[in-house]
Amino acid sequence: MALKITVIGTGYLGATHAAAMAELGFEVLGLDVVPEKIEMLQRGEVPMYEPGLEELLRKHVAGIEGSTGRLRFTMDWAEVGEFGDVHFVCVNTPQKHGEYACDMSYVDAAFESLAPHLHGPALVVGKSTVPVGSADRLAARLAELAPAGEDAELAWNPEFLREGFAVQDTLHPDRIVVGVRSDRAEKLLREVYTTPVAEGSPFVVTDFPTAELVKTSANSFLATKISFINAMAEVCEAAGGDVARLAEAIGHDERIGKKFLRAGIGFGGGCLPKDIRAFMARAGELGADQALTFLREIDSINMRRRGQMVEMAREALGGGSFLGKRVAVLGATFKPDSDDVRDSPALNVAGQIHLQGGQVTVYDPKGMENARRLFPTLGYADTAVEAVRGADVVLHLTEWREFRDLDPAELGEAVAARVLLDGRNALDPEVWRRAGWTYRAMGRPTA
Ligand code: UDX
Repeated sequence: MALKITVIGTGYLGATHAAAMAELGFEVLGLDVVPEKIEMLQRGEVPMYEPGLEELLRKHVAGIEGSTGRLRFTMDWAEVGEFGDVHFVCVNTPQKHGEYACDMSYVDAAFESLAPHLHGPALVVGKSTVPVGSADRLAARLAELAPAGEDAELAWNPEFLREGFAVQDTLHPDRIVVGVRSDRAEKLLREVYTTPVAEGSPFVVTDFPTAELVKTSANSFLATKISFINAMAEVCEAAGGDVARLAEAIGHDERIGKKFLRAGIGFGGGCLPKDIRAFMARAGELGADQALTFLREIDSINMRRRGQMVEMAREALGGGSFLGKRVAVLGATFKPDSDDVRDSPALNVAGQIHLQGGQVTVYDPKGMENARRLFPTLGYADTAVEAVRGADVVLHLTEWREFRDLDPAELGEAVAARVLLDGRNALDPEVWRRAGWTYRAMGRPTA
């Protein structure tokens, strides 16, 4: 009989995982503690913008015409405990207010709520990004609380999905990592992931702490790559070099690779910034803080980029104050193909200029609603052309495809001055310069 799967927490990770499990053929029950989320999901609607996710949900959510009916949602813990053979915990672990450490309260609450309803054999699988050592602690708690006793077991299975590619990354992961304590747990997880493993996804079996560390170390490596190239951009800037050419050239070395070497205003979002901070905090608790002091530097290189972008804009406006200056900002989300504005470098730069008296108008293809909510005092426009109307300088801060397709001549008609600052090194300098624009990017020579 096919395994029955539950997914606890229906944010980015959980909603995508639930839909993907249904796509793989399992009966799935998703749970969230927020009624509005459950109501939306039951209608086949997704609370955020993620390409392909709504289609996948609608394909499987019970009650939607033509669906397989394999995916249902509930708020009832007893129903979840009763239903599932395998329970995936997908709740978020944000940064604690005023601290580097991560806030485990949602994970802890999920375990406290679920465990008392586990009366028979069950595998609880943690997917949330947690400080190393959490799985050991949660396994003990599970043993204490679950009526099933030893039949209720824990495994850790970190998730590596990228926003904007969540569906693809979940259905076709580049690796599956499982931390297990028994053959039974491994066997169950192999069953869950039969399809991707048959397609060639590597399946790495390890212990709890290694599984937890794989996730935080992968994100630390990615953050390091981005800050590395941004540090090179600072040096290029000082030495008159071109960081884009430099990245291209070093990227030809297969050991280095081309990816994640785009210099610009740096990384943001709900993962990389908080994950490297939580990692440092945890290493400190373990007495291994020296091993990760370099991450402090990675973080500060990254945060410095935002201020440097603001200064570049000031310089482009003549070097004085932003008062009375019109600044157009293209992009509000932390990355393209997402509506996520959490710790967004783009919005941070827009906000800083606004707070210094600039008249900022923002346009983003998908992030307007979230940006408005977070930063209601900024100006917003419905299109890129409207955003740049009358602008003294245009800032390109999120690398949406739509911005690469803009017509420099058309935009040139709308602005007060043809000055473009590319904070993502993603536009073609030649195309813009030919259309009469002054194009500047971080770490690249002026024309
Ligand atoms: C990241 C990890 O990639 C993913 O594996 C993990 O599961 C969650 O965290 P995500 O937060 O979706 O995923 O963003 P990612 O695609 O990694 O980009 C992070 C940030 O880095 C974005 O703000 C992006 O614009 C920036 N970035 C990326 C650069 O500045 N330069 C680059 O070369 C690449």
